Amino acid sequence: MAISGAKNSALVVLAGSLLCSQSCRIRNIPSLVDVNRMLEVLLALGVKVTRDGSAVDIDATAIQHTRAPYDIVSRLRASFFVIGPLLARMGVARVPLPGGCEIGARPVELHVRGLQAMGADVHIDHGTVHAYVPGSRGRLKGARIYLDYPSVGATETLMMAATLADGETVIENAAQEPEVTDLANFCRAMGARIRGAGTNTITIAGVPSLHSTDYGIIPDRIEAGTFLVAGAITHSELTLSPVIPEHLTAVIAKLHEAGGQVISEGMNQLRYVPGDTIRPIDLQTGPFPGFPTDMQAQFMALMALCDGNSLITETVFENRLRHVAELNRMGADIRLNGNCAIIKGVSHLSGAPVLATDLRASAALVLAGLAANGTTVLEGLQHLDRGYECLEAKFKQLGAQIVRRSASATAEAVISV
Ligand code: EPZ
Repeated sequence: MAISGAKNSALVVLAGSLLCSQSCRIRNIPSLVDVNRMLEVLLALGVKVTRDGSAVDIDATAIQHTRAPYDIVSRLRASFFVIGPLLARMGVARVPLPGGCEIGARPVELHVRGLQAMGADVHIDHGTVHAYVPGSRGRLKGARIYLDYPSVGATETLMMAATLADGETVIENAAQEPEVTDLANFCRAMGARIRGAGTNTITIAGVPSLHSTDYGIIPDRIEAGTFLVAGAITHSELTLSPVIPEHLTAVIAKLHEAGGQVISEGMNQLRYVPGDTIRPIDLQTGPFPGFPTDMQAQFMALMALCDGNSLITETVFENRLRHVAELNRMGADIRLNGNCAIIKGVSHLSGAPVLATDLRASAALVLAGLAANGTTVLEGLQHLDRGYECLEAKFKQLGAQIVRRSASATAEAVISV
């Protein structure tokens, strides 16, 4: 099974290409709806974009506009990532405030407060974040910033802004996700001076400008984790590559606890070997290196079939348990108590018509459908298409019977064993 480039690296690295006053080539970019939307944002800023398969050439030598269009930002929260690079390069940025989404309110005050600490004047007016750097030179200045929460997005926004600031910036309580490190490596490849990415303290010494680079992003650890769970829930053996095992430490540990085996084969390949049963486990999501919230829904589907009782606690997002109701419609026995799900394993799930509510919930329902007796019809594939490249084709390669009923965004996937 081939794993695509990481969605959550691609989105922020594409935004980060705005920092470069020459052209950049970024490789291993997955073909996803969200990636297409980010490219639309870059085009709307007057940046030259050309795609060559999974490589994208971005030429941000001359950024024509500093306002990100509302109609695109409203469909892609990650568009907000352009605010840091625009402020750093142009000294001004006007970006619509990203709304909430299915999984939570998704505020951005940590991004805003950090940019203000770096000397930007930021105010919100009629739903748009207006930011500019006062003074003739219009350059941000280095600052020491403590994040109340190790926010991935805030860490990435502030790290990008700091690459071209005057002086040194220290981000404390920074996010340590692999995508943060990937972004730091991309910026360093352009000549940025960044130390400590992947730890909770990142130091950035500003430089006058960044130069061209040809950079390949990391494989998607969440797609890899989703396929590992597919092996577990269908008692199938499968191999995945490319993967970076240390990006999946918590997920692999929990799959072992649940009775499976994950074997590292060579530099960048993993093999999943199922156990006799699915043992119950307890897990709690948290910032990296904790268990990733983006894998919570997939494990919920797996634990629905465990031989015992499991407890899953979601601590990162306040509304990321909506797949529970849909899993229960397939015969799961899951009770919610606040942000905790108490799962009583059942012997089997039954195929049913179900509705996807968000990206990872839709993946979890596909997994449940693969394991269920009978046919599951999943409605709302627009969520799935945001984050998974050719998912049904990849599952078909593994022997799954899954067809997309219509080309429309609200298409249905018919999944049967
Ligand atoms: C990134 O979102 C990912 N998205 C998410 O992946 C992922 O779930 C999340 O990190 C956590 O790992 C991208 O990288 C494009 P956060 P982000 O800022 O940056 C609160 C997926 O399925 N917070 O770490 O938005 C926030 O409300 C997506 O691929 C503030 O309160 O995540 C949340 O409760 C979903 N104020 C928590 O922090 C802020 O200013 C974590 O958010 C910022 C965040």
